[in-house]
Parts: sequence; structure tokens; C-alpha cells
Amino acid sequence: TTQLANLKRKNLVEVHSIIDSTNSYLMRRLPNNVTHGQTCVSEFQSAGRGRRGKEWVSPFGSHLYLSMYWYLEQGMSAAMGISLVVGIAVSDVLQQQYGLDVQLKWPNDIYINGKKLAGILVELEGQSIGPGNCVIGLGLNINMPKQSADKIDQPWTDLGNELNRDVDRNILSAQLIAKISERLEQHHQFGLAPMLDDWQRQDFFYNKQVKLLTGDKETRGICKGINSSGALLLEVDGKQLPIYGGEVSLRGV
Ligand code: BTN
Repeated sequence: TTQLANLKRKNLVEVHSIIDSTNSYLMRRLPNNVTHGQTCVSEFQSAGRGRRGKEWVSPFGSHLYLSMYWYLEQGMSAAMGISLVVGIAVSDVLQQQYGLDVQLKWPNDIYINGKKLAGILVELEGQSIGPGNCVIGLGLNINMPKQSADKIDQPWTDLGNELNRDVDRNILSAQLIAKISERLEQHHQFGLAPMLDDWQRQDFFYNKQVKLLTGDKETRGICKGINSSGALLLEVDGKQLPIYGGEVSLRGV
């Protein structure tokens, strides 16, 4: 029976050819029709979503669109760190398996030489107290078709460019799923503390001047890394302010 329970506990990866959004798909299945770690990928998204209501351009067969459901036993207090943990996991895989050095842009972007390679969209469901549900979405550029490139309003790159060869998306997905789960598990047990060095080594904004946009409000400061809750530390007038995620956007100045 233990063996059966184990088999039932982990689902295989679900592969779709067409879907609105892999994140929306898993969110619709909450709370009862998902298992911890359940993952889905799709060849195409008709309504791929980025952060802050932006579209995530999702052409067929070109990239990786992956979402994973994660049960947050410790509740929403752990949620802030999740996108950072996933960023670190993606960077582990790119570094260890593909020899690529990436920069992590708080809270959720992955860059190579100042160009965006991947983005992470974490969505939460639950009360502020008690356990919660989390859907983690990862969009990673593999081979950008020309028609799609024209629709993207910021510098971007893709794995094909960076490696000058084809990438097996099945292998890459398996590597990412394994590493993301491993890092999330580590986060569950020990929090962000053991990962702060990993973050800092690749921190896109470390010691840089930035402006932080929160609604209409603009705050300028110098980035000083993150704290153990995953908040960005922004130095303003000699004081370090912790900035929590949500609807903020960070720009270099
Ligand atoms: C961002 O950088 O704004 C986040 C982009 C996240 C895109 C991924 S693709 C898979 C998953 N499904 C979605 O609709 N969005 C995420």
C-alpha cells in the first residue's frame, strides 16, 4: 500500500499542445484537483500571462511554458520567497547543466548579459494565516521566432542564441522540475537563509541605483540584496528599507 500511495502522490507531467495558460489551468483545478508538485507544460498558450497583467508571448513549439502546483504548508508567510527560490533553481540548472551564468532580477526575472531569458509568475490562493496553495509559472525562451520577437518590448535572449545549439526541451523540463522541487523542499525546511549567498552572487541590481515604482509612487535608492524573508533591501537616505513584492516594478537608473 505504501508503494501505491507513493505512486498516487506524484503525477506525471501533463503535456498539452494548446492551452490558455498553464498557470490558469492549474489555478482552475484548485483546491481539490491537484497534487503537490503536479506539473503541466504546453506547446502553446493562447493567453500566456506575465506579471502585472502583461501578456506573455507564447508561440507554438518555440519555448518552455511550465507550471507547477505547490502546497504551502507554512502558509503565506513563505510565499514571498517562492519566486526567488524558483529563480535560484533555474539558475542552478542553467549553470550546472549548460554552463550559463545568469543574473537574477528581484523578484522574478532571469537575465543573461542584461537580456531577459525567462520570467516567473507565482500565484497564490489562501488566507493570510494558515496553509495556502501556490502555482508557479516559468516561461523560458528557447528559440524565439521572428514574428514573436517584434511583439516583445524589452531586450530578450533565448537559449538557442546563448548556446548556439538545439536544446532538448524534455531533458530541460526534467532538470528544471527536479531542481525546482529540490530547492522548494530546501526552502520549506530551512527558509531562504541558506540561499542568500546564491542569490547575492547573481543579483542583477546589487549596489546599483534603482527606482521603485509602486502605483504612482516612485522611490529611488541603492539595492542591497534581499533579507531572509525575500524582501528587497533598498537603501534610501542611509537607511535600508525592506520592500515586499506585489505590484512593484524595479528599474535601473
Ligand atoms: C514575467 O516575467 O512577467 C513572468 C512570465 C511567466 C510566464 C509563464 S509561461 C508558463 C506560465 N503560464 C503563464 O500564463 N505564465 C507563466
